[in-house]
Amino acid sequence: MKNFNYSIPTKIFFGKDQINALPDQIKKYGTKVLLAYGGGSIKKIGLYNKVIKLLKDNDISFFELSGIEPNPRITSVRKGIDICRENNIDLVLAVGGGSTIDCAKVIAAGISYEGDAWDIVLDPSKIKSVIPIASILTLSATGSEMDTGAVITNIETNEKLGTGNPEMAPKFSILDPTYTFSVPKNQTAAGTADIMSHIFEVYFNNTEGAYIQNRMAESILKTCINYGRIAMDEPENYEARSNLMWASSLAINGLLTYGKETNWSVHPMEHELSAYYDITHGVGLAILTPAWMEYVLDDNTVDKFVEYAINVWDLDRSKEKYDLAKEAINKTREFFISLDIPTTLREVGINEEKLEEMANQSVRIRKTIGNFKPLNAEDVLNIYKAAL
Ligand code: NZQ
Ligand code: ZN
Repeated sequence: MKNFNYSIPTKIFFGKDQINALPDQIKKYGTKVLLAYGGGSIKKIGLYNKVIKLLKDNDISFFELSGIEPNPRITSVRKGIDICRENNIDLVLAVGGGSTIDCAKVIAAGISYEGDAWDIVLDPSKIKSVIPIASILTLSATGSEMDTGAVITNIETNEKLGTGNPEMAPKFSILDPTYTFSVPKNQTAAGTADIMSHIFEVYFNNTEGAYIQNRMAESILKTCINYGRIAMDEPENYEARSNLMWASSLAINGLLTYGKETNWSVHPMEHELSAYYDITHGVGLAILTPAWMEYVLDDNTVDKFVEYAINVWDLDRSKEKYDLAKEAINKTREFFISLDIPTTLREVGINEEKLEEMANQSVRIRKTIGNFKPLNAEDVLNIYKAAL
């Protein structure tokens, strides 16, 4: 295990009616809020009215930024920054899924930056100060409610990039699983795949001796496998929704990463798909993951797949190593199929046309992606082709 400095500062208010903590928590940072949300799902589920009432009843003034897109755009970030500057906002409150929270984070980081907000996406080192951020989560997927990153899309340049800063961790997040009862089947499935992918990105790793991180990772993977389909079939199953919600946060808040050398593979490949084709992040990940697993399986990596086969899929440890590895990869693919997620790029409207361009783009910042088995542009292209 490698050295690490532990810091996961976001306060979590988990469970039914925890929204009542909202006013007191906000008041720790001020009384002027930017309320950021997406296309209206929070209105349909009555959450918007609840938030507004709590703010009004507690003399917290608010300004609104609505219509934040899935795969949030830099244009929404710019709008939010303008509202915050004009009104001297103290805290940005995101109510929604990962897209809304990510947009809120970059707004909060962009207020004090003098240039265009896209600069701080391209180069996170330009982030100098961030006003407080808080979230009320409505979709279990990205973990943005408890991490320090954000992913923003620039449609004009076909770029979707991650940025981050320790100060971008929300000060507090309210995680009430009942707010996810209305999440449709396809988003529940995509969210589950996203949570699993965050774990895969750090689990399939060469750092020796990170036993505790690996066992925690396996238990969160098993949680997703156990509850993903249940949440789709029984959307109001509190047990399923609450387990997925906590899995979403734990998968990416740092707990599984501390002590490991990490360098993600499938996410940078997927971000190109979303940037060019605006597809759902979790769907892209579920399509690419089995193809990536097959591609990286070799004599150096097979033992890790055996660990995965035995500890996550409970496969028979007496079998030959490669058989176990391949069976575990098939189980992964079958699981995504059982969630009704498309299995090929063609099914989501992606053909050969831009594969090479996207492969080159995926490695433009670092020459290779991933450190489990480093991938160059040619490798990425091969994986895209295998997923066609
Ligand atoms: O916009 P509204 O009307 O709210 O509808 C949303 C949206 O259409 C809907 N939704 C959310 N909560 C709902 C609901 N519908 C019904 N009931 C509810 N309770 O779901 C749709 C998708 O929402 P979105 O926020 O886009 O989904 P998600 O949470 O999966 O976020 C995806 C974005 O996060 C980025 C992805 O790349 C993508 O841009 N990621 C952020 C990460 C981070 N910050 O750490 C890491 C991830 O790997 C990921 O890259
Ligand atoms: Zn993700």
